[in-house]
Amino acid sequence: MSELSEFLKYVPIFSQLPQDTIDMIAKIGSIKTFSKESVILMEDEDGSAMFFIVSGKVKVSRISSDGKEVILTALGKSDFFGEMSILDGLSRSATVVAIEDSELFIIQRNHFLDLITKHPEISIPLLQELTGRLRNADMRIKSLSLKDAEGKVAAVILQLADTEGVVRKGIVEIDKLPLQQDLANMAGTSRETISRTLHAFAKKELIEIDGSKLRILDYEKFQSMFG
Ligand code: CMP
Repeated sequence: MSELSEFLKYVPIFSQLPQDTIDMIAKIGSIKTFSKESVILMEDEDGSAMFFIVSGKVKVSRISSDGKEVILTALGKSDFFGEMSILDGLSRSATVVAIEDSELFIIQRNHFLDLITKHPEISIPLLQELTGRLRNADMRIKSLSLKDAEGKVAAVILQLADTEGVVRKGIVEIDKLPLQQDLANMAGTSRETISRTLHAFAKKELIEIDGSKLRILDYEKFQSMFG
């Protein structure tokens, strides 16, 4: 089995497919590498391909007319993006930029639509993933519209803990905290607010910051205060 087929088997939406179909998918797509900070696709462009992350990490964001960035999410190994334009035929809903050197597997629109028609079992995990993204988006709307500064920053910490946190001795640790400006763009607040709020959380012994590591000292308490 090729390395690519091996990767595709672990992509959740393909995991139920028989081996020969996985091998066929490996043949209809192509691999492309993007260095850190390169733009993979841009909001408002026409879309004709869907992307799967073989290695690396990307951020999905939208830029306001005055140049402010809102980070919608970060995606990593075996996640996909670019499906929205493929499915509805409209322009790209957001900009996607590599935040690490990234290797992507790319499938053209007609091939992906063909694949869903011939293998409808892909639809269920695809819909599950899209439902998860809608739930996250709902949480963010709540956070952006209802929460004060502490609540917004805490919501981002909880989101990072959810996707990247590792539990060590009952403490949830986020190994590589994004830059403060990126945290601000995720929380919909300013870099100064991030700095001040993290400091306040540390003073209340809710979190501990150690270089680029952030530890949530009592996850359940933090979750019940801000979740
Ligand atoms: P598309 O609109 O084709 O191009 C931009 C991609 O960003 C989009 O498909 C999705 O794959 C991804 N995307 C847009 N909004 C979100 C979101 N809220 N959460 C996760 N991914 C998103």
